[in-house]
Amino acid sequence: VPLSAGDKTNVKAVWDHVKGHEEAFGADALHRCFKIDCQTQTYFPGKDLNEGSAFLHSHGKKVMSALTNAVAHIDDLEAALSKLIDKHAHDLMVDPANFVLLNHHILAVLAMHLPQLFTPANHRSLDKFLHTVMRCLISKYR
Ligand code: HEM
Repeated sequence: VPLSAGDKTNVKAVWDHVKGHEEAFGADALHRCFKIDCQTQTYFPGKDLNEGSAFLHSHGKKVMSALTNAVAHIDDLEAALSKLIDKHAHDLMVDPANFVLLNHHILAVLAMHLPQLFTPANHRSLDKFLHTVMRCLISKYR
């Protein structure tokens, strides 16, 4: 289901409160993902995935900042994500199932850090947004 105008408004409203916290929120989401869905660790051999590690913070910041950029280009996600599409599909070959797992942890982190904004309507729009990003990131798989 494509994002409606209302979805885009909801996602932007929530993301205004993510801006500036990309590193903290991203590190938290990755830590939960690696701990709870440990098969996701296999894509990061040799990296320190413990809570508070420098890698979790730097990578968390990259992932959440990519989402901040995607929100800023929500009407043209394919162009905004094109470099990441190629990287995840061709270099990394991340199994699409892992995106579903990470998306879930990103939603959980938003719910915990921004409870007052995590209304049912915003939850639904954020879920649709993350799903749309995932569809984009796996669109070049073959
Ligand atoms: C790298 C974003 C999902 C595995 C990256 C980078 C970004 C990013 C911005 C850095 C790219 C660069 O340095 O050029 C995202 C976003 C995701 C997502 C927005 C979905 C919301 C995933 C998932 C996995 C994954 C689900 C696997 C479980 C990786 C790996 C790297 C990477 C292994 C390279 C890390 C390194 O060696 O430093 N991703 N990613 N990504 N991503 Fe993702």
